[in-house]
Amino acid sequence: MTGEHAGSSIRLETERLVLRPYFDDDIPALVTLAGAREVAATTLRIPHPYNEQNAREFLAQCREDASLGPETRFAITLRSDGQLCGGAGFRLDPAHHHAELGYWLGVPYWGKGYATEAARAMIRYGFENLGLHRIYASYLSENVASGRVLRKIGMKREGLLRAHICKWDKFHDLEFYGMLRSDFIAG
Ligand SMILES: CC(C)(COP(=O)(O)OP(=O)(O)OC[C@H]1O[C@@H](n2cnc3c(N)ncnc32)[C@H](O)[C@@H]1OP(=O)(O)O)[C@@H](O)C(=O)NCCC(=O)NCCS
Repeated sequence: MTGEHAGSSIRLETERLVLRPYFDDDIPALVTLAGAREVAATTLRIPHPYNEQNAREFLAQCREDASLGPETRFAITLRSDGQLCGGAGFRLDPAHHHAELGYWLGVPYWGKGYATEAARAMIRYGFENLGLHRIYASYLSENVASGRVLRKIGMKREGLLRAHICKWDKFHDLEFYGMLRSDFIAG
């Protein structure tokens, strides 16, 4: 994986993926892929239903954030043909030198190891390029695939908040995982 800083044109490259900032041309694919009920069902910040206006607002927010600090939101695209297949991002808290990692893949791209590959690239970017001290992530406890991704990238389980999230009129436990810079360096 390599990361290049070039203003907002930073790209994180892995064996099969390129993570890059979003472009307006991504809007139709975003609406289709992020708009799937299966994707919204286990995420906390993707509205559902998801329309073109939601995508435009999201892209505007990404650009505003990137104008104020480092790039933190990436489109996950296939290296082979440039197709958008998902998204990954950090919510930075500079005061504490930490960030929350989030990611999603479009349903047709599940089960191919892409989330793991993208999350690994984000971890490396966070520690090596952003100088973070800690990266953490959380997921609804029934989202076993997400838990598997976090364990595969080397995060440690830190705890569970019982019935912490009310999603679509149902309460869900929230699992917390994290990694310190020292964990990353130790490999
Ligand atoms: C969670 C998500 C990102 C996983 O993406 P993905 O590209 O399919 O993940 P990967 O292929 O890298 O890894 C998934 C792992 O979970 C495992 N897995 C998937 N479904 C599973 C299930 N029902 N039970 C047990 N393991 C499961 C896979 O086998 C794989 O592990 P393995 O490599 O050991 O076989 C994807 O399902 C998604 O986008 N879901 C909706 C949005 C979301 O939940 N985002 C995360 C919010 S915290």
